Amino acid sequence: MKLSLIAAVSENGIIGSGMDIPWSVKGEQLLFKALTFNQWLIVGRKTFESMGKLPNRKYAVITRANIISDDERVVYFSSIDEALLSLALLTEHAFVSGGGEIYKALINKADTLHISTVCTAIEGDVYFPSIPEDYHKVFEQRFNSNIDYFYRIWQKD
Ligand SMILES: NC(=O)c1ccc[n+]([C@@H]2O[C@H](COP(=O)([O-])OP(=O)(O)OC[C@H]3O[C@@H](n4cnc5c(N)ncnc54)[C@H](OP(=O)(O)O)[C@@H]3O)[C@@H](O)[C@H]2O)c1
Repeated sequence: MKLSLIAAVSENGIIGSGMDIPWSVKGEQLLFKALTFNQWLIVGRKTFESMGKLPNRKYAVITRANIISDDERVVYFSSIDEALLSLALLTEHAFVSGGGEIYKALINKADTLHISTVCTAIEGDVYFPSIPEDYHKVFEQRFNSNIDYFYRIWQKD
């Protein structure tokens, strides 16, 4: 199974403040919506609670709690390894979609990173991990918006 990771990160490495994303950048979320359409998303329980269910996505939610799903588009897993093993039987591609704990656990396993860097330094308490050295940048574009952002794609060597 190919693993891609998608995140929006501030210049100072923040991805969240409490349960929220501490900015609103017009247009940036369209990248997320387009790339994840009809895909499996791997998310931590906090991110799932905070972002809710978007239509046309399937969710593998990681939690230590024993939660029974009442929606066929949502499957709960008690470990990241269990989620990866099960998803590999269901799909050829999944998106690691946050939050901080899940990015940290999976950044080394992703084949491709889709990262929007939002051109602002902002307060928050959830950080994106450093991009490991064995990734190289294959695409970069600057977008003008209410806050400008760079969209970059990184591939693992
Ligand atoms: N900027 C972005 O692109 C972006 C994207 C996504 C999220 N975010 C932000 O990220 C923040 C949330 O990130 P977070 O790090 O606080 O939480 P998170 O990664 O979304 O979820 C953490 C939860 O996942 C479960 N978990 C994590 N590791 C596990 C493991 N190894 N085994 C079993 N369960 C595990 C636990 O759930 P239980 O407590 O239920 O056991 C844990 O409390 C929010 O502010 C959100 O807005 C930002």
